[in-house]
This record gives sequence, C-alpha cells and structure tokens, in this order.
Amino acid sequence: MIGKKLNDALNDQIKNELESSYLYLAMAGYFESLSLDGMANWMRAQAHEEMTHAMKFFNHVLERGGKVELKDLKLLKSGWESPLEAFRDAHKHEQFISGCIDALIALARKEQEFASEPLLSWFVNEQVEEEANAGRIAEQLAMVGADKPGLLMIDRELGARPFPAASPFNPQAVVAAE
Ligand SMILES: [Fe+2]
Ligand SMILES: [Fe+2]
Repeated sequence: MIGKKLNDALNDQIKNELESSYLYLAMAGYFESLSLDGMANWMRAQAHEEMTHAMKFFNHVLERGGKVELKDLKLLKSGWESPLEAFRDAHKHEQFISGCIDALIALARKEQEFASEPLLSWFVNEQVEEEANAGRIAEQLAMVGADKPGLLMIDRELGARPFPAASPFNPQAVVAAE
C-alpha cells in the first residue's frame, strides 16, 4: 500500500497529465483554425496519449490501495502567435513533466514504495521520447521560418502520425459512434 505523501503526489500527476491533454487539445484547435490539419492531427493524437498517461496513474493508485482524488484542471494556455511558439511550449511543457516524473521516482525510493518503480521507469523512458519529439518538431519549424512550402511539408509529415481509431479525439471515431 502506498503512503499518503506518494498518493498525493500521484494524484497531482493525474492532474498534470489531464492538463497536458487539455493543453494539446487547445493546440489542436489552434492548428485547425490555421488549416494546418497535420499539426492538428499530431496534437489530437498527443491529447489522446496524455489521457492514457493520466489513466495509467489513476489505475496504479487504485491498484496500490491508494485513494484517487481528482483536482481542478487549469487550461495552461489558449492562444499562440505561431506554430513554432506552440511546439516550443509543448517542448517546455514536456520538460516540466519530466521533472515531475523525476520527483515522483525520488519520492517512491525515499518511501521505499518499490512497487511503483516499474510504472515510473516506464514514464522516465516515455519522457525521453516526448521531449525529443516536441523538440525536434520545434527545431524543424525554426528551420523553415516564414517559408510556407516548408511549413506545409512539416504539416504533411505530422498528419501521418497514427491515431487510435476508436479514440474520441479522432473526428472519424466520433462520427462513427453517432
Ligand atoms: Fe504525459
Ligand atoms: Fe509518447
């Protein structure tokens, strides 16, 4: 069973992952408003993924005999000046999340809650991927600058990100369910 301190910290992380999803959903809307549908697709997929992260923590707290306490969610930001600014924010946000995961793993070790380590180690690896992906896209956007064909090329590439067919973040799935 997990102690109160780690339980609280894991509840905070459920909130952080849900706020990540909310932030990326806001970015998906921003990109769709610019007709950058590929970038919007990437953000929809990311918003979906963040929900799965939140649920991994949710399930883990319950499995370890803890108590899930959901917190109020905040919309971290709702408007961007450019695609570059949005992806830079996504990159910065993932760096913040990595710091949260590091703090969680340090706390789990201090409290000798070794049963939480496999899940937290999974997240350590996941954050390497998350930071690298958002950082790489931000760098490519910085590279093309104001060049429209370059921007559209990146948009095409991001439109190919596979997307869970049944996810409610997928507009096709929403249509199919009606
Ligand atoms: Fe996440
Ligand atoms: Fe990921």
